[in-house]
Amino acid sequence: MLRTTAVLLMALMLCACAGGGDAPSADVERSDFGVTPAGDSVDLYTLTNPNGVTMEVTNYGGVITSLRVPDRNGNLEDVVLGFDSLATYTSDAYRSANPYFGALIGRYGNRIAEGEFSLNGETYTLETNNAPNHLHGGTEGFDQVVWDAEPFQKGDSVGVVLSHTSPDGHGGYPGRLDVEVTYTLTPDNAVAFDYHATTTEATPVNLTQHSYFNLDGDGDGTILDHELMINADRFTPVDSTLIPTGELRSVEGTPFDFTEPTPIGDGIDADNQQIAYGGGYDHNFVLADQPSDTLRLAARVYEPDTGRLMTVRTTEPGVQFYSGNFLDGSFTGKGEVYDQREGLALETQHFPDSPNQPDFPSTILRPDEEYSTRTVYQFSTRDAQ
Ligand code: BGC
Repeated sequence: MLRTTAVLLMALMLCACAGGGDAPSADVERSDFGVTPAGDSVDLYTLTNPNGVTMEVTNYGGVITSLRVPDRNGNLEDVVLGFDSLATYTSDAYRSANPYFGALIGRYGNRIAEGEFSLNGETYTLETNNAPNHLHGGTEGFDQVVWDAEPFQKGDSVGVVLSHTSPDGHGGYPGRLDVEVTYTLTPDNAVAFDYHATTTEATPVNLTQHSYFNLDGDGDGTILDHELMINADRFTPVDSTLIPTGELRSVEGTPFDFTEPTPIGDGIDADNQQIAYGGGYDHNFVLADQPSDTLRLAARVYEPDTGRLMTVRTTEPGVQFYSGNFLDGSFTGKGEVYDQREGLALETQHFPDSPNQPDFPSTILRPDEEYSTRTVYQFSTRDAQ
């Protein structure tokens, strides 16, 4: 643990107004999380809601390092993969294999084919950090940034506002991008992400959050018994490098049919070319149509042993379901070795490679526009059947 000098900066106790001080309080605390190899000091924010749910977030990469939510008996356990120490996140070994545990992703979540796109008659070249493609903003993406952070409390909700200016041309992307992302832990056990950005030049933007969940408790077995529902009757099939072909394909009769809750393990090893390309699930699903400025149901994940249920809602048109296929035991976090399929990600997003796919919803942000999206992960439980 690098957190040797825990400093209480803020203890924003909900006032004694609710029940003479006996009621649990919402709270935000800041502690030191260490210093990056470049010499920047990094903080860890511990958010607690009145039910005792806690989320730890560092301003290094906007990474969620832990999230403790109750099971059906009220036992709190950590349901995200991550590390106790900043040194692991900044190590060369981690950065070169980058699984993006818990990280804020930008400028462009997911892949751009061969790191190239054209816009307004110009061709732009990005880093091909996931050969032959560009992935998650490159090796100096938003997951590597030390964000400015402002903790806040509004009633029973607590959170952190993260802000960052990505300089004009950074990583090959046009325009200066001013980004603000707010993480909020609410009293009804939801974690909300509000993403905002403006630009000085037309540029692709696709921000997301890359937490890996295991509702059994951190890294405790695989996610194959988790029952998944995705509110999508189509997905975007990919080529062997995981770039969408452009087709929106029906999930009907395929291992991609999660329209009804289905154990992830049922189809993950199916004899299917798309499953083979992903090494399991690593695909974008086309969410059922609804106006894009309202939250739509994206997915539900249920873990039958503990009763934990996670419901994902978003304004985004897509969600990447990644079943942790590339985890291979190389990393140990919080006492657990993270082996294949021990965590799953549900990354709300615009579709992969949209800058090269004229028929996909556009990801181009223009100087007179504001990028504004919202995603909420809500935690609850169900009784045993
Ligand atoms: C991608 C995977 C990738 C993982 C970690 C996911 O969003 O779809 O292919 O391995 O991120 O980088």
